Amino acid sequence: MRVVFLSPSYPANMVQFTRGLAEVGAEIYGVGDTSASALPHSVRRDLAHYLEVPRILDEDDVARRVSDWLRGKTVDRVLTNWEPLVVLAAKLRERWGVPGMSVDTARGFRDKQTMKERVKAAGLRVPVSRRVRTRADLFAAIEEIGFPAIVKPIAGAGSDDTYRLDSRRDAEAVLARIGHVDEASCEEYVEGEEHTFDALSIAGKTVFENVMTYFPKPLEARQNEWISPIAICHRDLAQKKLAPGIELGRAVLRALGLRDGFSHMEWFLTPRGEAVFGEVACRPGGAGLVDLMNYAGDIDLYREWARVACWGHFEASTTKKYNVGVVYKRAEGQGTISHVQGLGEWLRTCGPHVVEERLSRPGQARRDFTQSQAADGHVIVRHPDWDETVRMCKAAASTIRLYAR
Ligand SMILES: Nc1ncnc2c1ncn2[C@@H]1O[C@H](COP(=O)(O)OP(=O)(O)OP(=O)(O)O)[C@@H](O)[C@H]1O
Ligand SMILES: [Mg+2]
Repeated sequence: MRVVFLSPSYPANMVQFTRGLAEVGAEIYGVGDTSASALPHSVRRDLAHYLEVPRILDEDDVARRVSDWLRGKTVDRVLTNWEPLVVLAAKLRERWGVPGMSVDTARGFRDKQTMKERVKAAGLRVPVSRRVRTRADLFAAIEEIGFPAIVKPIAGAGSDDTYRLDSRRDAEAVLARIGHVDEASCEEYVEGEEHTFDALSIAGKTVFENVMTYFPKPLEARQNEWISPIAICHRDLAQKKLAPGIELGRAVLRALGLRDGFSHMEWFLTPRGEAVFGEVACRPGGAGLVDLMNYAGDIDLYREWARVACWGHFEASTTKKYNVGVVYKRAEGQGTISHVQGLGEWLRTCGPHVVEERLSRPGQARRDFTQSQAADGHVIVRHPDWDETVRMCKAAASTIRLYAR
């Protein structure tokens, strides 16, 4: 099983997918722009070969270099779990005749407007939306959609350049701020809770599923620095409230043609109990979501993904033992973390249920929460009872405080 794995060490959790591939017996040909000498030790151990390229996002250049490198060899899989590379991986597959997702299918997961059109064409509920390139486009879209509306980049991430518009004045202000965005999507603002639907699929059928709830919705968390965002993976996926979202998720994957691998969808649950599509990616959720799913059932989805991708099998248990919640902290003040308050007390009361405590320590530099969800560190708890999980997360959000100066 010869596997070309794009970006085997970046972002950081790709190191674990590289390990998974090695554990299921793949001969891994890694391609990335991290210098060979800077690869983590385990990646060097797990890769059979590594091609360092100057710019991993330069598709034509990478395609040329990798083709030269592999000339005369057959390749069984071309894989990546990093969003910006999913189209490149598909191009390489098509160029070499390797099985897996096509370029057209990959584009359905990358271009938010195409994505919504395909999901809508399958009869599923998506926000009304328009592709906008100019000021005139935006005002024409608002004319149709009305307020409140959302403006966001066609291929965005991390809520970058995403704004809620409540008036024409908001629209003018946003136009002044998103001049660098070539193409955006303007859509109906959907009220309600925000959840994920995560899946690992084989031959178009999900073999593992997860639903996570955000507190509050990511856009609000991004716009208010004082918030400690919480996200909790549900133990009980059979509860009635989540059913419309799970059904929507499965239907979206069918509509977009996902056959094998991870997917990460976001959806809204309106006050009337209706599930509305948000967006979907053909890769696992970031910011430690794979770890949360692993903690829920004491499994190793890094390895199971590799088993699915290489051999078409999934061997882990799908029984969830716990709800798993993560709380991200943002320090108050700028500069260097000076002290952490409330952690000892929180650990005394929640200790047995805490599976990770990775808060920044005094002396460490503050991190930019707009650049990384992890911000100034996180804690993860798990518990069989939902309310108890929520309680511990809320306690971490409100009683642990980090200060910087
Ligand atoms: N139509 C909408 N109605 C209400 N809120 C929305 C809508 N579209 C986006 N949002 C809010 O903006 C956030 C970011 O939007 P979206 O998930 O589409 O972009 P993203 O930047 O790709 O996010 P990610 O961080 O998941 O990559 C959403 O999580 C949600 O909170
Ligand atoms: Mg999103």
